[in-house]
Amino acid sequence: MPTRILIVDDELAARTALATLLRREGFEVSDASDGATALAQCASFVPDLVLLDILMPGMSGFEVCRRIKAAPATRLTPVVLITGLSDREDRIEGINAGADDFLSKPIDFTELLARARSLLRLKEFTDDLEHAEVVLFSLAHSIEARDPYTRGHCERLAAMAARLGEKVGVPEEHLKALRRAGIVHDIGKVAVPDAILLKPGPLSPEEIEIMHKHPVVGERICAPLRTFRLVLPIIRHHHERHDGSGYPDGLRGGEIPLTAAILQLADVYDSLTTDRPYRTALSPESALKIMEEETARGWWNRALFDALRDMIRHGPSTATPAKPGKPPK
Ligand SMILES: [Fe+2]
Repeated sequence: MPTRILIVDDELAARTALATLLRREGFEVSDASDGATALAQCASFVPDLVLLDILMPGMSGFEVCRRIKAAPATRLTPVVLITGLSDREDRIEGINAGADDFLSKPIDFTELLARARSLLRLKEFTDDLEHAEVVLFSLAHSIEARDPYTRGHCERLAAMAARLGEKVGVPEEHLKALRRAGIVHDIGKVAVPDAILLKPGPLSPEEIEIMHKHPVVGERICAPLRTFRLVLPIIRHHHERHDGSGYPDGLRGGEIPLTAAILQLADVYDSLTTDRPYRTALSPESALKIMEEETARGWWNRALFDALRDMIRHGPSTATPAKPGKPPK
């Protein structure tokens, strides 16, 4: 697929000259004479790079750039702002609008090509990363779909774990990891046969052993993705217990990464409050009662459980942040 470049300029002669040169270099080019058309082209032509004039009648280049960077579908599309003015203020406003680079008029075509190619290389990397994430999320969803009782669980879990994390003061990058982990935490179940995963009765010791491998398998599947660095410990440790009786590593108390403990509590609560083959969904209070007993038994972090109970009863924003253990690594 040829690389696509969108040229946005109100001057027809400037657009045509640039388009001719870029086509000669093998790019697929489209153009727009104003901001509204440019934004529509972003949706239909899906450019890999936008060359954007600042001074245009109607919507300015800054505004177009801001909108491109605000839309989830185009936020990673590089934008080069082209200006007739070499004004410092213009550049600052351009940076604030999210522009990736600047070129001054009259355009030096060799410089334009060099800058465009470097931005396009960067875009290729981010596209690859995004594709890898999309593949992992699709795999996680298809695993979830194998079990009719867990449908929708991942999305609920991602949201609830992030809310609980926010309540106990987890930093933003770890909240992001919690949202991702909510979706992919059980991805290792890809290695668990249906006969075990969907078995309605109790599992045999051999079956339990296979089931208990899913956190480690999941960690291995996601390990190559650098953006999942903070997600990996959550995947690996989402079945540990506070008293060391969990798996795969039998970690205790503060050894368990806080984010893994958060995801696990949300996971347990969501499982108790949804229908299962062997019982109907419990009410929030009945689920909390069971989890209170499990906390007393030593399975869950007390401060974290109290924060969850408070969140379920009163909503996420009512409690003061708890300090339930060491901050996530
Ligand atoms: Fe799991």
